[in-house]
Amino acid sequence: MPARALANVMPVDGRGGEGIRDFAVMKIGNLTIEKGILLAPMEDVTDLPFRIICKQMGADIVYTEFVNSDGLVRGNPKTRKKMAFLEEERPVGIQIYGGDVDAMEGAARAAESFNPDLIDINCGCWVRDVAMRGAGAGLLRDLPRMERLTRSVVNAVHTPVTLKTRLGWDAKSIRIVDVAKMCEQAGVQALTVHCRTRDQGHKGEVDFTWIPRIKEAVSIPVIVNGDIVTPQDVQETFATTGCDAVMIGRGAILNPWIFRQAKHFLATGELLPEPTLEERVDLFRQHLKLAIEHKGERTGVIELRKHYAGFLRGMPHVSKIRNELMQFTEAEPILQHLTRFLELYSPRASLQAETQPSPLPHQ
Ligand SMILES: Cc1cc2nc3c(=O)[nH]c(=O)nc-3n(C[C@H](O)[C@H](O)[C@H](O)COP(=O)(O)O)c2cc1C
Repeated sequence: MPARALANVMPVDGRGGEGIRDFAVMKIGNLTIEKGILLAPMEDVTDLPFRIICKQMGADIVYTEFVNSDGLVRGNPKTRKKMAFLEEERPVGIQIYGGDVDAMEGAARAAESFNPDLIDINCGCWVRDVAMRGAGAGLLRDLPRMERLTRSVVNAVHTPVTLKTRLGWDAKSIRIVDVAKMCEQAGVQALTVHCRTRDQGHKGEVDFTWIPRIKEAVSIPVIVNGDIVTPQDVQETFATTGCDAVMIGRGAILNPWIFRQAKHFLATGELLPEPTLEERVDLFRQHLKLAIEHKGERTGVIELRKHYAGFLRGMPHVSKIRNELMQFTEAEPILQHLTRFLELYSPRASLQAETQPSPLPHQ
């Protein structure tokens, strides 16, 4: 992970000095969240099963993957399905994206009909097909349209609206402080900043030094995102940026336990032990069950493949097991495989067994 450019400000304890504020207590609508650790919206990842898993692990807010406003306007059932969630996921945000003001207004109303806690506007997607068509991070190249679109969405619904964006289009055009002010004036209730430019995609260093400047300029909550992976990263981000919450994306795919681990670290200053093999397999079984319940067996199993690396991380013979699991499209052989694996490695299963030769039979 690249070293992040940290704000290097005094730790914010919210008590000293002028403008006293509670330390990292975020209020959005009726929600009050202290030192919030949020699950980032991720296409094809933050579906209902994964959101429930992260919620169980302590994520304070979970977001749907982004939902295409044009798809909603066309009445595409697949698009609508992305907005469905369970009560137990709350608080949950539905994220919508698009470049057309009217379509986004319609999408916000459609999202509101699902009764989420938040509606989030995506102004950060860097992918060519989205950004070059004036949606996602593409809106950072047309701030007047971004403002019109944001105001229209806020005015179209009663649900609190939040917005997720990047620092700017590229290093030469960082306008995040102006964007934050615009958002606040338009009625956005919290701003998430992925601390990279659109040009950077997911690479290069994140720059957290903008966060204190944004905090100076606005009083809505500011949520920091980008390369926050470990409990120490979470702690350091709160301590050095003065942010109101942090948001974790890829770190949660690799390690869904991060929410629990980071909360424990924030509360005690101690690191929890890594999850045991049994805990990993248990969580995996739950995820598989949820995926099958909500998507059917074949689709559920296939779509779970992207999570194998995370669940197996640190286990003995990871790549071999992953390759074996990849071949299955039904749950039963996966469960059998994992049971056999547990029998072989548990209870002495430790996360250091990587060096032993694999006694697992070939399929
Ligand atoms: C597979 C994948 C899908 C993503 N999809 C979305 C999305 O639908 N909406 C969004 O706002 N950001 C999306 N992102 C960006 C993440 O929300 C996040 O801003 C980015 O990954 C940086 O945070 P991280 O370093 O914690 O992963 C996606 C990222 C990944 C890796």
